[in-house]
Amino acid sequence: MSEALLPSQPFFPSPEAVGQQTNGYKVPNHVAIIMDGNGRWAGQRGLPRLEGHRAGTQNLHRVLEALGRHGVRHVTLYAFSTENWSRPPEEVRGLLSILQGVIESEVRALHAKNVRILHLGRLDRFPKRLQREIRRALELTRNNTGMTLGVAFDYGGRDEILEAVKAIVRDGLAPERIDETVFGRYLYTRELPDPDLIIRTAGEQRLSNFLIWQSAYSEFYCSPCPWPDFDEVEVERALRSFGERTRRFGALIPIG
Ligand code: IPE
Ligand code: IPE
Ligand code: MG
Repeated sequence: MSEALLPSQPFFPSPEAVGQQTNGYKVPNHVAIIMDGNGRWAGQRGLPRLEGHRAGTQNLHRVLEALGRHGVRHVTLYAFSTENWSRPPEEVRGLLSILQGVIESEVRALHAKNVRILHLGRLDRFPKRLQREIRRALELTRNNTGMTLGVAFDYGGRDEILEAVKAIVRDGLAPERIDETVFGRYLYTRELPDPDLIIRTAGEQRLSNFLIWQSAYSEFYCSPCPWPDFDEVEVERALRSFGERTRRFGALIPIG
C-alpha cells in the first residue's frame, strides 16, 4: 500500500476535534465532495485527461487527512456518476481501472485507520472483478468505528430515488407508513446522516445528480480550484465558510 494515501495519524477523525469548534468555528458532521476538474487540470498541463484522474486519486490522502484533523466524521466522495458512462469508452475504461487500482492499493490501509467504507450507487454495471473488490472492501471495514467514507461510484440521485420507490412497492408498504425517515432507509445513504456541507471544485455550481434528496438543507461551497489542486488550505477555507453560516432549516432561530 502506498503510505502516500494515508493520514499519518493512526485513526481519524481525530478524537480531540470531534464535536469541537476548530479555531472557533463549527465543524460539519458530514462533508460531501463533488470532485470536479480533473480533465481541465490535465488539459492545462498538456496531459491526457486520464492523468488528471490519476492526480485526482493522489489527492485523496491529504483531503481525508485534513477533514479528519478538523473532526469531520463522515465524508462522501462523488467518484463516478450514472451519467459518466456517456463519456468516450476509453475514458470510462481508464476511470474504472484507476478506481479499481485505488481500491486494491488503499483499502487495507484505510481499514488500518479504522475507516468504514460504504458504497453508494449501483454495482451491477461494473466488471465482476471490480464488484468483488468493492464487496470485499465493504465487508472488511464494516465494523470500523472511525471516519465513515462513502464512495459514490456509479451513483445518480434520480436512480437512487427510483430504486427506493421500486423497493418500497416490492415490500408492499402502505402509503400511510411512508414518511421521510422510512423513505431514507431505502436510499443508498441509509447509514449516513444528510450532508451538512457539499463542496464542488473547479468552479461549477450544480449538483450533477448528486445527493438530490439528501441535500435539501445542505450548505454549498463552490471553489474555483480543480480537484487535483484542492489541498488542506482549501479544505480549511471551505470549513471556515461553513462555520460562518447560519442554518435555520425553515425556522426563525438558528439551529445547530
Ligand atoms: C471529475 O473530473 C471526475 C469525474 C467526473 C469522474 P472531470 O473529468 O469531470 O473533469 P473536467 O470537468 O472535464 O475538467
Ligand atoms: C460530476 O462531475 C460527477 C463527478 C464528479 C463524479 P461531471 O463533470 O460529470 O458533471 P457535469 O457533466 O459537469 O455536470
Ligand atoms: Mg467535470
